[in-house]
Amino acid sequence: MSETSPQTTPYGTLPPASPLAPRKPVSLPRLHDMRTRGEKITMLTAYDATFAAVADAAGVDCLLVGDSLGMVCQGLSSTVGVTLDTMRYHTESVVRGLQRVQGTTWVIADLPFGSYHESRELALRSASVLMQAGAHMVKLEGGGWTTETVRFLVERGIPVCAHLGLTPQTVHALGGYRVQGRGDAASERLRTEALALQDAGAAMLVLEMVPATLSAQLTHELTRCATIGIGAGKGTAGQVLVMHDMLGINLGKNPKFVRNFMTGQDSVRAAMAAFVAAVKDGSFPDDSLHAW
Ligand code: KIV
Repeated sequence: MSETSPQTTPYGTLPPASPLAPRKPVSLPRLHDMRTRGEKITMLTAYDATFAAVADAAGVDCLLVGDSLGMVCQGLSSTVGVTLDTMRYHTESVVRGLQRVQGTTWVIADLPFGSYHESRELALRSASVLMQAGAHMVKLEGGGWTTETVRFLVERGIPVCAHLGLTPQTVHALGGYRVQGRGDAASERLRTEALALQDAGAAMLVLEMVPATLSAQLTHELTRCATIGIGAGKGTAGQVLVMHDMLGINLGKNPKFVRNFMTGQDSVRAAMAAFVAAVKDGSFPDDSLHAW
């Protein structure tokens, strides 16, 4: 979790339980460099120590402690019921897991519903809880009113990932899990919001369920902010999937943008490595199957 190897990291870091081939820690400058060079950024969600450590060992660049844990871990029907304290607990778990291995993955934690809406000051207090739990970056949903919140956090040294398109915390207002940014007016609004978020300092932007042509155009325009797609086509700077979806642990019907990477693999680590390889070589997602 630092520029030095785990063995020489100070402040009481646990020795690695399973030493693996060292790789350089993923940092903001490295992510920016990947985006500039056109190397695709890989991201999976993680909620606990073991899966985080396995994902790190599989070479995943970024782990998102997503508030999707409300559905995946807590059995809620949406992310709206997830609390800041729950996010802190899972972020700490993920970070401890990473410390048991290489600890090289970039960790992003979701600010949950209600933890940043009231004021920029509340957003700073909530973000501080997640940063002190070990996150490197926080993610928040929406554009427009969030722009000044992003600026406020970034100015205070907190890296921010924004999230546009299908924003699950507002699923009730959006009327369901459906594609966003379709049509001239909606796509122009999304584009305006994305550019404003970049100007406010957002270093990453998750684009969820957005038409592939729009996300490719945004990726081209946003030179200081790496777009990470989920159901947004192959033209983004990186890809994210919910871990349980890509491992086929879903009793319902997987969304169209998911591929089950367990197929043909004999371990979770191999499935995650297959995800990394497919994103890096551009074979996932396939716009004819996984995009709109
Ligand atoms: O909470 C989450 O897992 C997310 C991803 C779907 C991007 O926000």
